[in-house]
Amino acid sequence: MPLLTGEAAVSAQLYREHVNPQWARLLDVLQMNVRYQRCVGAELFSDDGRRFLDFLSGYCVHNTGHNHPYLVEALQRELEKSGPAMVQSHVADLAGELAARLIAQAGGRLGKAFFCSSGSEGVEAAIKFSRAHTGRNGLLYARGAFHGLTCGALSLMDRPFWRKAFGPLLPGTESVPFGDSIALEEKLRTREIAAFIVEPVQSEAGVRLPPRGYLQGAQAACRKYGTLFVLDEVQTGLHRTGGFLAAHDYGLDPDMVVLAKALSGGLIPAAAVLLSDAIYDSVYGSLERAIVHTSTFSENGLAMRAGLATLDVLEHEHLGERANSMGVYLRERLREALSGYEMVKEIRGKGLLNGIEFAPPSTLRLRVFFEVFAKIHSAMFGQVLVMRLFRDEGILTQICGNNFMVLKAAPPLTIEERHIDSFVRSITRVVDLMHTSGSFWTEAIGLARRTVKI
Ligand SMILES: Cc1ncc(COP(=O)(O)O)c(C=O)c1O
Repeated sequence: MPLLTGEAAVSAQLYREHVNPQWARLLDVLQMNVRYQRCVGAELFSDDGRRFLDFLSGYCVHNTGHNHPYLVEALQRELEKSGPAMVQSHVADLAGELAARLIAQAGGRLGKAFFCSSGSEGVEAAIKFSRAHTGRNGLLYARGAFHGLTCGALSLMDRPFWRKAFGPLLPGTESVPFGDSIALEEKLRTREIAAFIVEPVQSEAGVRLPPRGYLQGAQAACRKYGTLFVLDEVQTGLHRTGGFLAAHDYGLDPDMVVLAKALSGGLIPAAAVLLSDAIYDSVYGSLERAIVHTSTFSENGLAMRAGLATLDVLEHEHLGERANSMGVYLRERLREALSGYEMVKEIRGKGLLNGIEFAPPSTLRLRVFFEVFAKIHSAMFGQVLVMRLFRDEGILTQICGNNFMVLKAAPPLTIEERHIDSFVRSITRVVDLMHTSGSFWTEAIGLARRTVKI
């Protein structure tokens, strides 16, 4: 890897000193510490002359691709206006415009929007709104969920890795297995649960699709027992799984929806909680309570403009239809290419939120290697795959945060067939090496050992 020179080297060193040195070291070990110079659409160009295809999309931030020219221009024009970006004592008209468009597209009982800056912050708001509306404290979530790392959102996640060392979290939170309607109804029957908060497709749990009818049944059960049905669409929303919301793909009418990530256009943090008028009234129902839940950056002009411009691009470029057709194409090509390999267990997904699940090998020779790996660290197998795809093939991907055997394939919705073909050829080469080459495993085991030592 070429050494950084000049200003770049200074900034990189400052990051190591003052931001997160462990992160920089991890990227070094994984040979992924690249300095990106230009990011356009689904392509990333580094200052050492390499080009990468982005199949991660910043964890579903870049639905419209990197630095979409329409978005860049809309933001530049907004800046040039010198408007009231954050006066805080005014009615933010851009927030009104964005809310109206989000609500019109979301439909159902959603009549109001609360704006904030991140998915976690949206989940926090949904927790508070649910409690205020129902007068109950209990919160139910699905096992394996990822809802964010602030204390409230983290209380809705069960993986010990994320929770350890951070002290007691919110009381009254419980999990049920994703897809298990009976377990859900058992908890709801107590009538102590304010909300069931669920991702329609569990992304970080391994791109897990809901069993047929599960979400509709969950919604009906929530209504029966007076529990709010809240969808975390931070990853699935804004056409990632095809429909404007995944709720539409599954015929749902949620009480609240959390949106974030792609609403930013990949440029200005923006998030929204869509809620029913009845919930709004329970939280904000008097003059005294007009700002009882808010946030400084909530309705800021640039974030609202980014959201509006993102909706324009999604609509003008028919990116929902594109997510569906390209998703089908991607899964078909992957299945054709990978189905013969014993370690490839399943290829699944919806729209352009896709996962390739790997399984421990049964062939003795491969099993020996795999078990050495698993003993070093459970995440290492997937991480080596990610590293190989990046270093040798110029493809950026990641494994799922709560399921290390699933590689996520979630490119920008603007992705082209030729990019998908290139991704499929690359992953096939890496998977083939994994099944045929001893040196693939010896290099990988060496890397795993070095990683756990630092
Ligand atoms: C489904 C889901 N919900 C919530 C969050 C938290 O969002 P943020 O990182 O913007 O706080 C994430 C983040 O990855 C997510 O995937």
